Amino acid sequence: MPPILAPFILLLLLAPPCPSRPYPSFSAPNATFNHLARAGGSGALYVGAVNALYQLTPELGLAGRARTGPELDSPECLPFRDPRDCPQARPTDNANKLLLPHEGAGELVVCGQVAQGLCEKRALADVRRVLYRAEEPGDSQFVAANAPRVSTVGVLGGPAGHELLFVGRGLTATLSAGVPPVTVRPLAGPGAFSSEGLGRLVVADVSDYNNSYAGAFAAGAHVYLLFARRGARARDYGPYLARLCAGDGQLYSYAEVPLACRDPRGLRYNLPRAGQLARLPPPRGDVLFLLAAVGQGATAAPGPQTALCAFPLAQLDAAVERTRRACYTAGGRGPGGREEAAIEYGVTPGPIAHACISPQESPDVYPCGDEHTPSPIAGRVAVEASALVTGLPALTAVAAMAEAGHTIAFLGDEQGQLHKGGGGGGAAPPQSRLHLGRARGAG
Ligand SMILES: *[C@@H]1O[C@H](CO)[C@@H](O)[C@H](O)[C@H]1NC(C)=O
Ligand SMILES: *[C@@H]1O[C@H](CO)[C@@H](O)[C@H](O)[C@H]1NC(C)=O
Repeated sequence: MPPILAPFILLLLLAPPCPSRPYPSFSAPNATFNHLARAGGSGALYVGAVNALYQLTPELGLAGRARTGPELDSPECLPFRDPRDCPQARPTDNANKLLLPHEGAGELVVCGQVAQGLCEKRALADVRRVLYRAEEPGDSQFVAANAPRVSTVGVLGGPAGHELLFVGRGLTATLSAGVPPVTVRPLAGPGAFSSEGLGRLVVADVSDYNNSYAGAFAAGAHVYLLFARRGARARDYGPYLARLCAGDGQLYSYAEVPLACRDPRGLRYNLPRAGQLARLPPPRGDVLFLLAAVGQGATAAPGPQTALCAFPLAQLDAAVERTRRACYTAGGRGPGGREEAAIEYGVTPGPIAHACISPQESPDVYPCGDEHTPSPIAGRVAVEASALVTGLPALTAVAAMAEAGHTIAFLGDEQGQLHKGGGGGGAAPPQSRLHLGRARGAG
């Protein structure tokens, strides 16, 4: 899973600037970290690891620890209580797949790889305390990918008290193969995490598209999913950003645009490995930092060449709006007559529109779509950016921020090394390198 280095990066950034004091640190011998999350209110940190969860103080002191595995499990079995119901079950390491603080409710959403990717809610104040776990989970409650190497991303959105969990996950084999790449999950009530009655992105053949998710973000009234996919028409993979209204449980507002991250030689970095939505001070605003790799041929396997590209969110939002407008009002055609938008997937429940219908109502009347509007919409015109950083092999993690008028990006690679780059406007070539030891990992 790409964000494997994120914990190391963030732990370092929390360190005080004064070099005479020792840096606060936290280590767990032999643990493989998957995710790091922070509760803004308390400043508490949560680390999701293989078989464990850690709760840390803002100074990185250990405040709680919960064991989450190994569990008797098999990806071929429905979640079971009686081992006789799953003879093929084996003690299985449980990688953390999603770790999301839901601060309004005092809850931590935790989803693991075992039991078909079921989620649970734990207390933010004490991760050992489980607040909710489905008693008799049905298949609508399978959330995360049930394999350690298939990525799952998630983000909370929607009005306070009625938040929804938006999930993107890659293709898995066996029982969970039918779980759609994008689903919406309620957090409250007895049906927590059940996709029943909510929107699901459906494709004719999931493996044709083979969506692979690299990030999920919330900003303003929207949530965003960063991913790579093939398509019914394109056989090689490309990066995409999907946008949804944060309260849209039916996926009526789903629209995606292709991204293009190229270096000066024109080389295309087509497989997203990680992304971060950074809040930079005006005039830059929110910027999506994308780390992407050059794919090996037409496969989903990332090669060693990676690049960092930056996309201002305002530019991405404008591209999504142009795509919606082309689909709602012009049959998907742009001013020059070329195809700019199309219906690439379906959404259930609900009727499946097979084409952009024209002319329709103004997209302004339905900013988040509705039952009768075309959805989901796929843009055909890529938002372009040229690489800010190239030449560092196998980058897998990015964290960017503004400090004293400069944009600083920390980049982590597969070897566990951290690179730092900075510049006035964007990220400049890396200035220093820190060796942090090798990151082992699943996730
Ligand atoms: C870490 O793993 C090594 C080798 O597997 C083992 O010898 C050691 O006891 C482990 N340490 C802890 C703290 O679990
Ligand atoms: C889908 O992508 C994954 C990597 O993200 C790759 O390992 C797998 O082989 C791909 N599956 C298909 C059916 O192309």
